[in-house]
Amino acid sequence: MDPNAFARDLVRWFRRRGRDLPWRRHRDPYRVWISEIMLQQTRIETAIPYYQRFLRRFPNMRSFARAPLDRVLKIWEGLGYYARARNLHRAVSTLVHEHGGRFPETADDWESLPGVGAYSAAAIASIVNGEPVVAIDGNVRRVAARLRNAARVSDAEVEVLFSASMGPHEPGLFNQAVMELGQRVCFPRRPACAACPVRRHCAAFSAGTTERVPARKAGRPVPHYEIAVGVCRKAGRILVSRRREDAMLGGLWEFPGGKIRPGESPERALAREFAEEVGLRIAVGPKIVTVPHRYSHFSVNLHAYECRHAAGRPRALDCAEVRWVRPAELKKLAFPAANRRILQTLKGDRGWPKT
Ligand code: ADE
Repeated sequence: MDPNAFARDLVRWFRRRGRDLPWRRHRDPYRVWISEIMLQQTRIETAIPYYQRFLRRFPNMRSFARAPLDRVLKIWEGLGYYARARNLHRAVSTLVHEHGGRFPETADDWESLPGVGAYSAAAIASIVNGEPVVAIDGNVRRVAARLRNAARVSDAEVEVLFSASMGPHEPGLFNQAVMELGQRVCFPRRPACAACPVRRHCAAFSAGTTERVPARKAGRPVPHYEIAVGVCRKAGRILVSRRREDAMLGGLWEFPGGKIRPGESPERALAREFAEEVGLRIAVGPKIVTVPHRYSHFSVNLHAYECRHAAGRPRALDCAEVRWVRPAELKKLAFPAANRRILQTLKGDRGWPKT
């Protein structure tokens, strides 16, 4: 592959056909940073409305640093991978309070911030500062493997391949052009080679192996859990608990409950979990709904039941906080997606509530 001719074809295509995404309209480090964090694990179409809402709510780093974590999580509600929001908040607060609001300049400096891995650091530093570093993720690896017609490529090989091409081009533009190619043309399955601006440089296209290269990893079976949760009511209020910050979905609110043990009924599991987690005795009523949900490393069925308070005062025994709230207050709290779906069933509506 001729690295210069490849880059010329790719960049020309990207300049003509690249999408006009909101974070591509400026090079403000704060905005680029937010976008790169949101785009970790999240599709572009999903991230866009969150990005726009986030920037309306927190237009600069100082307004963001001042916000309590609860408000940040509420904006992030439904986007998943909430550690991203917690890390971002922590990192921005550190920059504002300890570094006079100055941003890092090099990819290495960006990577020292919580939640900024090698890929995001390279993306940000190349877009904002024009640092010639290659941003490598799964999409970019796939493009490289096909260009080389290799079953797999190491990150060092990807770096050598694309560094040679980046040369005269703006690094941020070049990186985003490779990302765009991976997202819109060089799909994992059935790549759109007929529409590919760089197919004449692609060894897999020449060899007719694009469907087989790169080799796919065997999927590992994901664990599955049955979870019972209770919508526990007392005098018109509902009991909610907040997850510990260091846990998965940390800082978010939920209906108390937990895993159903082998041989245990959902009702017994609920009674046990309420006692262990919030120190309450409850009477379990009818089932509300079962919500199936997939996380990155496991899947769950969330079985939700109506419950009534029977005895005890709620205590945060195995959670960060516990509260009786009026139904109207529920919309102000950040709930994980599967819990939000239970609420929607209760209210008979659909879609995320406006924040
Ligand atoms: N994925 C991660 N960063 C991106 C960006 N800047 N543009 C498009 N997709 C991305």
